[in-house]
Amino acid sequence: MSGVPASGEGASTAARVRIMVRQDEEVRAEIRETLSASPRSIPCRFFYDAEGARLFEEITRLEEYYPTRAEIEILSDYAGEIAGIVGPRVRMVEFGSGSGEKTWLVLDALQTPSAYVPVDIAREQLLEFSARVRERHPGLEVLPVVTDYTRLAELPWPEADAGSTLAFFPGSTVGNLDPDEARRFLARVAGSLGSGEYFLIGVDLVKDRDRLERAYNDAQGVTAAFNLNILRHLNRRLGSDFKLDGFRHRAIWNEEESRIEMHLVSLVDQVVHLGGAGDAGGPEADGITLARDEVVVTEYSYKYRMEDVRSLARDAGYRPVKSWTDARGDFSVHLLEVQ
Ligand code: AVI
Repeated sequence: MSGVPASGEGASTAARVRIMVRQDEEVRAEIRETLSASPRSIPCRFFYDAEGARLFEEITRLEEYYPTRAEIEILSDYAGEIAGIVGPRVRMVEFGSGSGEKTWLVLDALQTPSAYVPVDIAREQLLEFSARVRERHPGLEVLPVVTDYTRLAELPWPEADAGSTLAFFPGSTVGNLDPDEARRFLARVAGSLGSGEYFLIGVDLVKDRDRLERAYNDAQGVTAAFNLNILRHLNRRLGSDFKLDGFRHRAIWNEEESRIEMHLVSLVDQVVHLGGAGDAGGPEADGITLARDEVVVTEYSYKYRMEDVRSLARDAGYRPVKSWTDARGDFSVHLLEVQ
């Protein structure tokens, strides 16, 4: 089966515009709700417009942002061992539109993989990366699925005879879900993979406050730009009027909750309008009032201890097969088998 088509595919231009307007209305209603809640927040998926994706790429190369380098170290050292465990003709599924170097480390190590199935909502990036995989691995079936991987249902099978399925979720993106959501996500993946299949997941580890906070408050201000860009993205998409110089970036380690919290702190008393028909005078016209020093949470990035990852995995229906860390013990990769 093929993936869920991108919104509006096959529809007329007018119908497509109507769909986009409706989607923007839904986003506006969602942002109004999250910004009015306590704590005020904006869902972190709104980081990733084209500029946000570019800034995130830049973050992964920062000296302070250790997770990417540490995970690459682990995969460089152990991809061969992982490939040996999962066996030949693997159907490799990746959540996210392909992670470049990390994808190559796993895919290149596999013994005659049968298919590569990247799953992502960002259609353009997904298709672009799929083309790169086809170029590098001619003959491999590349079967992109355009969907939000947190709402995953069925995954396509290759024409060729396939061995095990290995789903790959690098980058500690699971850390951007709260532990309950993470367990539910893992359980859903287990359900769509089926018993005996594998899940390879990268998870960032708890460490000292100083290193954690430095990773999210880099000296060049790239993370600050990434955080503030969420407002620019909403302004462009919704016609809202967030003033970027009315906020400052802050990232703090919340030890009790075991998470980095990314905040945008209001620098002044201000009113934000979210745009749309409501701003023409309907009941939605009311802006959102933010006092000076009020906080908008833009992201939680949970950090785990090794044993916590394994017990989360067990609770979600997996058998932890093997786990690895980098030499410094900063980051972990876990191979899990669906029970
Ligand atoms: C994508 N995600 C795992 C990153 C993280 O570390 O939580 C996003 C990020 N936010 C700030 N820097 C990087």
